[in-house]
Amino acid sequence: MSMPSEFLVMRNISKTFPGVRALSGVTISLNKGEVLALVGENGAGKSTLMKILGGVYQAGEGDIFIDGQEAAIHTPLDSRKYGISMIFQEVNLVPTLSIAENMFLGKELAGGILGRLDRNTMRKKSAEVLARLDCGNLNTAALVKDITLAKQQMVEIAKSLMNQSRIIVMDEPTSSLTGAEAEALFSIINTLKEQGIAVIYISHKLEEIERISDRIIVLRDGKFIAELDNSKKNVEKNLIVKHMVGRDLTDFYPAGNAIIGEEILKVVNLGLKGKFNRVSFNLRQGEILGFSGLIGAGRTELAKTIFGEFKKDEGEIYLSGKPLKIENVRDAIKEGITLIPEDRKREGLVLCLSLADNICLPNAGEVSSAGVVSRGKKNALVRRFINELQIRPALPNRTAIDFSGGNQQKAVIAKWLVKNPKILVLDEPTRGVDVGAKSEIYALMRRLTEKGVGIIFISSEMPELIGICDRILVMNEGRINGEFKKGKMDQNAIMAAAAGI
Ligand SMILES: Nc1ncnc2c1ncn2[C@@H]1O[C@H](COP(=O)(O)OP(=O)(O)OP(=O)(O)O)[C@@H](O)[C@H]1O
Ligand SMILES: [Mg+2]
Repeated sequence: MSMPSEFLVMRNISKTFPGVRALSGVTISLNKGEVLALVGENGAGKSTLMKILGGVYQAGEGDIFIDGQEAAIHTPLDSRKYGISMIFQEVNLVPTLSIAENMFLGKELAGGILGRLDRNTMRKKSAEVLARLDCGNLNTAALVKDITLAKQQMVEIAKSLMNQSRIIVMDEPTSSLTGAEAEALFSIINTLKEQGIAVIYISHKLEEIERISDRIIVLRDGKFIAELDNSKKNVEKNLIVKHMVGRDLTDFYPAGNAIIGEEILKVVNLGLKGKFNRVSFNLRQGEILGFSGLIGAGRTELAKTIFGEFKKDEGEIYLSGKPLKIENVRDAIKEGITLIPEDRKREGLVLCLSLADNICLPNAGEVSSAGVVSRGKKNALVRRFINELQIRPALPNRTAIDFSGGNQQKAVIAKWLVKNPKILVLDEPTRGVDVGAKSEIYALMRRLTEKGVGIIFISSEMPELIGICDRILVMNEGRINGEFKKGKMDQNAIMAAAAGI
């Protein structure tokens, strides 16, 4: 067998999980100082391929070569020894330790035990590494829990530089970052490139892929589908999409035939201390009302207040003209209000339960007869939602944690849709969801509005807000700072309103 000349080659990688072939004979290569984007639908096998590189999973078949030599990667430690670092969406730092302590964690230095290390040296060294990233001033004595998620990610990248990384894998790193924070990450990626470090970048945001990658590899159903040269940063997004889903996506934002009817929700001068104040708006039957704004603008808190999760400090909420009196989430659901939360890992799913159990968890009433769970009803309900949302693989008894990120998100949506809501609040429902599934979620929203459901749609992605909403409200620092109607939605004006201008 010939030894490859590229810096990294993963050759003929296959991986099977019980019931699923996650990867079949995938080969990828990577050069020094290159940004390789891995794209594909939810469940295509991107994370699995990277977890094999990271020593988290063992490949069933295939070989890995680094610098032309066969690399034996069986554990995360092996992977780190080869200079490979993984940055996941979830940060893996210890929140109660300082930046410097986190960066030195796991290092067998002088004294061995962290407590005996010279704190000054630690701080100085970590500051030096952070400086290599050009990411502004970070006080290395600050506790990780006190800095933003974006800064935490930078600390993770810095930590990987301390480990002499030559390859950094980033799996959906920007999904919880603001636009400005993502920009900072992109400039760090450029700095890494200049230092000869190679980056493998996974994202569902095709705008990012187009901007920062040198080469794009598309996976579908665990197979290598295409490789696109993006050295000129001009790959057509449509071409990527076509390879990803295997067909052209027409009607990405379906128009729908909903009739906007009576007012079903009216919010007057609503306030929650320290989060938002004097918020007034209304929502009509069949309407999709978007909420734009920067992270921290108060949108999620507003949604949770309407849903009864937070207790309002002032103001009134009216449901079809009547004052809404709710004490908690259960009351809200009884009144026909449903919220699909943004953080699917923490609030959305019980990861150790099966898909079917997750969907049925808040829906005991729907699947029981005379207080006893009916297997038949349960199966029928679960099947219906697996089909309606195209959850893949369509295995009701599989544990939630074993589904890919986007399919977990679809399960969260399914779980809450069973309630047949009158008002549906969706908080970032398409985060981490592939283009095909996104358009399924939009179509589903349209179908619901055709039945008269009023939808509040919180999103940080401008194209989808403009594409699907009948009206957009923009929040800035806890206030509503702009309203845009269909046909008059201007991206720049919305951004300015979100920035408080
Ligand atoms: N630990 C596991 N056990 C069983 N099946 C798994 C496991 N991890 C992943 N899979 C399955 O392997 C396939 C590939 O999943 P993977 O997480 O690699 O997809 P992905 O491309 O990263 O998707 P996403 O964009 O949704 O994150 C999926 O069918 C998934 O359900
Ligand atoms: Mg993934």
